[in-house]
Amino acid sequence: MVTFTVEDHAGNRQPIEAPDDMGLSLMEILKASEYPVLATCGGMALCATCHVEVLEGKDGLGDATDVELDQLEALPEYYPTSRLACQVRISDELEGAVIKLRGEDN
Ligand code: FES
Repeated sequence: MVTFTVEDHAGNRQPIEAPDDMGLSLMEILKASEYPVLATCGGMALCATCHVEVLEGKDGLGDATDVELDQLEALPEYYPTSRLACQVRISDELEGAVIKLRGEDN
């Protein structure tokens, strides 16, 4: 298991525990934890509604692919530490990270 922190749209932070051996994406864990992540494309890096900002722990999360970067750059607001949650695998590299929800929530 890995533990990281999620900050919601209201700024509330909560620790989340997730299994790191099931090949799940961060988006799947956020949805399972009942965060308002639309994920309309189902994790195909096409909708960008799973946009998150990695406030801490960026180096451990790997690099965004070109497809992911294209989506992020098309957003009205994006940050140097933005990621699509569906493209981030749950692994021990997430331990201690702080993730802020940035995608649409309705
Ligand atoms: S779920 Fe659509 S881009 Fe991540």
